Formats: sequence, C-alpha cells, structure tokens
Amino acid sequence: MSEPIRLLAGKRIVLGVTGSIAVYKAADLASKLTQTGARVDVVMTESAQRFVTPLTFQAVTGRPVYTDLWQGGSAGLPTHIAHVGLGEGADVLFIAPCSANTLAKLAQGLADDLLSVTALAARCPLILAPAMDGSMYEHPATQANVQTLLQRGAAVIEPVWGRFASGLEGRGRLPEVPALIGHLRHLLGMRWGALAGRRIVVTAGGTREAIDPVRYVGNHSSGKQGYAIAQAALDAGAQVTLISSAHLLAPVGVRFIQVESAADVLEAVLASIPQADALIMAAAVADFRPQQAADRKIKKSDDEGLTLTLGRTADVLLRVAEVRAASGWPRVVVGFAAESHDLLANAQAKLSTKRLDLLVANDVSAPDAGFAVDTNRVVLLRPAQAPEALPLLSKQAVAERIVDEVARLIRAADDA
Ligand code: CTP
Repeated sequence: MSEPIRLLAGKRIVLGVTGSIAVYKAADLASKLTQTGARVDVVMTESAQRFVTPLTFQAVTGRPVYTDLWQGGSAGLPTHIAHVGLGEGADVLFIAPCSANTLAKLAQGLADDLLSVTALAARCPLILAPAMDGSMYEHPATQANVQTLLQRGAAVIEPVWGRFASGLEGRGRLPEVPALIGHLRHLLGMRWGALAGRRIVVTAGGTREAIDPVRYVGNHSSGKQGYAIAQAALDAGAQVTLISSAHLLAPVGVRFIQVESAADVLEAVLASIPQADALIMAAAVADFRPQQAADRKIKKSDDEGLTLTLGRTADVLLRVAEVRAASGWPRVVVGFAAESHDLLANAQAKLSTKRLDLLVANDVSAPDAGFAVDTNRVVLLRPAQAPEALPLLSKQAVAERIVDEVARLIRAADDA
C-alpha cells in the first residue's frame, strides 16, 4: 500500500479504459490511483472488456464499474441518464489506454457508448493516454485527432517507444504506471496548485568530489528528501528545476540537471536562480574536496597508504546570499542543516550566517531520520521565531510541509 497523495486524495477520478492490450496496465493504474486516496470510477468500453473483465477493476477500486449505456440503471433509467453525474461530478476524466477509435470519437464529439457520453457531459480536465500500434499513432488521421483534442484543451500523455504485441516496434506504447501517475500529478498540479506559475529550484543528493577517475569523497545523502520536495512542488503546480547529484528516478515534469561535485552544484544553482521564486537547498554539498584530482587512477603500492589533502569548496548558500542582495533573486531561500550534535544551536547559527528564510534541521544520528530512510524528523527554524519541531513523518509529508511554508513565504514576498 502506497502513501496517499495530497493532490489526489478525495478527488473523483473517472478512469476511462478502452480496447488495447495495455488494459493490463490500466488495472494496476486503477489500483494505484485508489491507493492515492482518490475515488476511482472506471468506465470500460466494450472492446476493453474483451481484454479484462469489469470484475478486475471492481476488485481494485472497490467500486462498481460502468460498462453499458443502456442497461443496469437504477429506477428503470438507462445507465447514461442515471450516471450522467459521473462526468459532471468528476474532478478529472483520465482515459488510459485511449485507443485510436476512442480518440477519433472524442475528436468528432460522437456519443455512442458510455465513455463518449461521459466525456461530452464532463466539464473537468480531460487527460488522454493514447496506446496503439506505432503506425496507427503516427497516421495523419490520428495525429489530426490529437491536435483537435489538444486545441480543445485536453492534455495528451505521449505514448513511448517500444515493442508491441504484434512484434513491431514504434511509438505507441502506454507509459508505465508510475510515469502515468507522474504525468497526472504534473498536469493537475498546474491546474489546481498553490504554486502554479511559480519557479522553484531544488537541489538534492550528496556531492562526489573526485580523487581520481574512479574514486571520490562522498557522503551518505540519498537525495530522497530533495526528490520528495521536487515532487511536492510539482504537485503544487510549480515549474521545478531539480539539480541533483543522486541517481534516482526524476519526478515527471521537472527540468533536471545532473551534477556531480560541489562546483557543479554552484554553477547550476547560479544559472538557475535568476527569476526563481524560491531555492530549496536540500543537497548535502561537500565542504571539502581533494586539493588535486589525479588525471589517472592512483595505483597502490604494497606497503604505503595514501594521504589526501583536502581543500574547501565554495559555500553555495553564501554565494546565493550575495547574488540575492544584488539582484533580489531568488525571492525565498531555504537551507538544510544535517547535524549530529547540538542541533538547535548549530542550526540557529546557519539560519543567520546563510541569511535564510527557513532552515530545515535534522538530527542525522537518529535511526529513523536523515539519510537513506523514508522518514524524517525535522525542526523548522525561521528568523525571529521559536523553532517548530515536527513529529516523525514520511519524507513526502515533510516535503509537503516545506512546500506549504515556501508558498506562504512567496506570498509574503509578493505583499512586501
Ligand atoms: N551548503 C552549501 N554549500 C556548501 C555546503 C553546504 O550551500 N559548500 C548548504 C547545504 O545545501 C545546506 C546548508 O548549506 O542547505 C547547510 O549544510 P550543512 O552541511 O549542514 O552545513 P555547513 O554549512 O556545511 O556547515 P557544517 O559542515 O559546519 O555543519
């Protein structure tokens, strides 16, 4: 069971499922969407039912599945009248997989089955994930239908390249379920989120400072908290730049900049902060690096060790404070403090020397907080305010709290 997603929890999703071999993914999609806390009502076309029975979707959503335009309505009414509220009451109509036939029907405004009737009745965002053989997707008729629907305000999740059941290869495969949910979050965040149109830069992960071409000096930061913040900012509708030295799967919708060393982080941050509403420095940037990285692999000898001389790296947040004083960007700056002792005293000092609007401090010596684990226990520090200790939370929940606070700080900067 995955954790509920705040953006989707309590929302009413009508999931349209049409005839495609990718229907098997739709069953998992319906299950995962239900686990986000959304209410998922599945509408299946007749062809979809040739691949998977409605019972599968009923089992994973715990709700009735709608299949027929004419039968099964209550009080003697045809289903489409009884359930006309299905489209009208939906927060989003998501059709995945969407066949070439359903795309064509939607583009033409036909209404000859329950799904097309629901689409016409719906006034909510329409999101389509086409899936078909590559040649069908590339056909001018299908492409014209896609363009018509885009112009009418629908969002289309592009199919991906891959091998089809036919044995052919092409661009027409339904993306995997995590990617589908990532696209859904990105699209809905931009429509519903408190940070819609805002630009947020997030750094994540522990940097690596080269000793030679194969070795580095690093730290234990996994990047998980930073990635969770990037995802929470996307859910809030922001345009997110993620500068990362970690190698995790980037959330759908971020502008991703892969970095390695503290010097790379500095360069990427300085390039990204003009016009940024906020910078959130979750990266564990190295303070020291080998003075000289060897060009070639250092060979060992039997009896001698290796002495490294470490020099200082630039402090990114101090440089950001200078840029901000001169230019006004970024408007809000958030830092992190990873401490193993004297948490509050050390964190308070960083808040003022780095001139931060918010500092997120955590005790990395605790087993349930900090590096690599999925939970975190943090204290929020703001200038001239008492520290606020949050309880043990998932990194996702910590990220949501930080993003809420950033949204509040940006609004305060707007009003200032
Ligand atoms: N940071 C930075 N540049 C560095 C090192 C850290 O911008 N060269 C940022 C981190 O991204 C974090 C904050 O500064 O947001 C605090 O990082 P931390 O490692 O806890 O503190 P340091 O400033 O490195 O201080 P110390 O190592 O003495 O605790």
